[in-house]
Parts: sequence; C-alpha cells; structure tokens
Amino acid sequence: MSTILEQLAALETEALDVLQRAETTEKTEAWHGEFLGRKGRLTTILRGMGQLSAEERPVVGRQANIIKTTLEEALQKHQNAVAQSEMESALSAEGIDVTLPGRPQSLGKLHPTTQAMRDILDIFGNMGFQIYDAPEVESDDNNFTLLNFPPGHPAREMQDTFFTKDEGIILRTHTSPGQIRAMREFAPEPIRVMLPGKCYRNEDVTTRSEMMFYQVEGLVVGRKVTMSDLKGVLLNYANKMYGEGRKIRFRKAYFPFTEPSVEVDVSCSLCNGEGCRVCKYQGWLEISGAGMVHPVVLKNGGYDPAEFSGFAFGMGIERQAMMKRQVDDIRYFYSNDARFLERV
Ligand code: PHE
Repeated sequence: MSTILEQLAALETEALDVLQRAETTEKTEAWHGEFLGRKGRLTTILRGMGQLSAEERPVVGRQANIIKTTLEEALQKHQNAVAQSEMESALSAEGIDVTLPGRPQSLGKLHPTTQAMRDILDIFGNMGFQIYDAPEVESDDNNFTLLNFPPGHPAREMQDTFFTKDEGIILRTHTSPGQIRAMREFAPEPIRVMLPGKCYRNEDVTTRSEMMFYQVEGLVVGRKVTMSDLKGVLLNYANKMYGEGRKIRFRKAYFPFTEPSVEVDVSCSLCNGEGCRVCKYQGWLEISGAGMVHPVVLKNGGYDPAEFSGFAFGMGIERQAMMKRQVDDIRYFYSNDARFLERV
C-alpha cells in the first residue's frame, strides 16, 4: 500500500509541475490525457489496487479521489489563465490601435446646382427679394406672347422650344414667364421677387448648353425703378458671389421683353480682369441677361407703364457655379459622376 500512496504523491507533484509549463490550450489538453485520461497515469496506478487488502483499498481510494479533485481544479484554473493570455496575445497580434481615428463616413453633400442656387437666393434675399415659384410647364402665351414675342417673330427661334401634345402648352424655355405670373398676382403693388427653377431647350448638348438647366430670374417693379438700380443690385450680387472688388459692365443686347436690354459681365475674379484661360483672355465673364421691363410687358402684367417701371434679369445657375468653381463643361452637372459631385 505504501508504494501506491507514494506513487500517487509523486504523480501529484509531477503533474502540478508539468501543468505549470503547459502554456497553450493544446498542451493543457495533452496534460489532461496524460495524467487524468481514461488511459492516463492515475488510472494506471489505480489498477494496482487489485493487489491491496480490503482495509487498504478505501484508504488508497480516498487519497486517489483527493488527488484527482486537486488536479482537476488546478487544470481548470490553469486553463482559464492560458485562455486569457492567448486572447491577449491574439488581440495584440491583430494590432488594433484604439487611438487611431476611425474611417470617416461620407455624409454626402448638396448638388453644385443646389449650392449655387442657395448662394444666389441668399444674396438677393439680403437685398429684400422674395422667392416666387412658377411652373415649368407653361403656356406659350406666358413664355412668349405676353413677353412681347410677336407670333412668328424670329426671336422665338432664339429658344428651341419643347412642345407638348396640348396646343399652346410648352416646357418653359426661360424663367421669364414667371414675370407675368408675379405681376398679375401682385399688381398694382410694388414687386421684388426671385424666380428660380428648371428650364428646357431643344438644343444640341455641348460643353456650354444642356437641354435642361436652371435659371433664376429677378424682377423689380415700382414707381421709380431705374437702370442704375439694376446696376447697383447686380454689382452688389457680383461682389457677394465672386468676391469683393468685382466690377460689372453692361453690353447692349436684345430681348423682346426688356428695353433697353443688356448682357452683364463681371470682371474675372481669377485674373482680376487681366485676362486668363478662364475668361478666355477677355478679363470679363458673362453672368446675366437684363434690362428695363418693356412697357408692353408691364401692361400685360397689369401695371400702367406711365406710372410704373421695372427691371429684370435672368441668369443660368450652372453658369454661375461653373465660373465660381472653374468647371469647364456643363455636362458634368447632370451626368452623375460622383467624382465631380464630390469635388465641386
Ligand atoms: N430670359 C432671358 C434668357 O433666357 C434672360 C433675361 C431675363 C433677359 C430677364 C432680360 C431680362 O436668355
């Protein structure tokens, strides 16, 4: 009996010693097989119990159970420690640096046309203009006739119109028909409105023209509205939109609904009027058509031209965005290339 008890004591010491050196889960499992498994060394020793006397057997059996429990508990504790350190080294091997900033999520941004539209409406809003919404599907009358385009007049050809199946109903070719709507709503009160929105022309698509584009129209009607008011308003706009120090100039032009009519240029903000690639070495960029509201148009709107006068201007939104952000092709705006939309 003493030999078996000695063997058991020696086994316990050895097992605990070997366990301390089992640094991986794999090794702890191997250790379990070697010492506590069905064919392990504890079982092997206990097989010798058959030779013991009836008194000796329970003593040895009790001692064997105590050792078994001790070893199982030691294994459990050791395995926990091994698992913990394995997890720690796996984490540090993956190399997560929790102090690194995360990858930013792109939030998206406003379309360049929307941005330009908001900039423009902000600037004119600060000058007391209100927004007036007018429809994109218009009558031929509002788009042409009431704006003093005589029937068959070649000026109608300036704007290649999209017609609908309904006689006299078209897609507006400019925002100017909104002038008639605003005047007819507000006459005989003074007016100071901006009319933004989409316009359509059946044109070849080029770097400078799209079939659908945005315009914004300005209209002021009152008792003493002059051309210098027009110039002051547009000069202020140019300085707010393109930077302080901009100059503007008027060139004579023709529109049926204004008299006199002008094209408005702003001094190039890139070269300060010296001439560069962006302004095609002119020093000036065209920003708007404008003029004094034609007496016939005032009358069509419900104002007496002997008492009232007004000015109007109309500008292409994409053009303003192109000049401000140096985009050289209008087709980028609606071809949905994310690289362009993110850059501008
Ligand atoms: N409607 C004109 C165009 O589309 C621009 C314009 C508006 C000119 C108002 C004068 C006054 O070209």
